Amino acid sequence: MAGETIRICRRETFNAAHRLYRKDWSDEKNYEVFGKCSYPNYHGHNYVIEVWLEGPIDPITGYLMDLKLLKGIIQKEVCDRFDHKNFNLDCAEFKDRIPTAENIAVVSWNLIKPELPENIALEVVIQETEKNKVAYRGN
Ligand code: NI
Repeated sequence: MAGETIRICRRETFNAAHRLYRKDWSDEKNYEVFGKCSYPNYHGHNYVIEVWLEGPIDPITGYLMDLKLLKGIIQKEVCDRFDHKNFNLDCAEFKDRIPTAENIAVVSWNLIKPELPENIALEVVIQETEKNKVAYRGN
């Protein structure tokens, strides 16, 4: 008896700055679309990342994956990379992407996925404020 499918989650936090805007739009147009997040001098968020894994329980360990290992992957690939950075100015991953929570979820997913065993499905949830969350499962 083994191999039941299970979901597990590790939550980590980091702080980073961003500005949501398009270079090809005026400040007025950017404010119309992105609101305060378009202010030219950037602002910060306390980001929460939830990394959800789904796959079979290993009959030997009883784990889907050791959460200590998952913690290490998230810290190396996401938190160490983005903590106390400015997404727009410091992070090559956002050179051609507006650093919305949506795009932060996609970039984080792309960084974490190659570090996981093939048979584990990944979902990344990014929380930018107490009230907003986005989720990405690949594709
Ligand atoms: Ni913002």
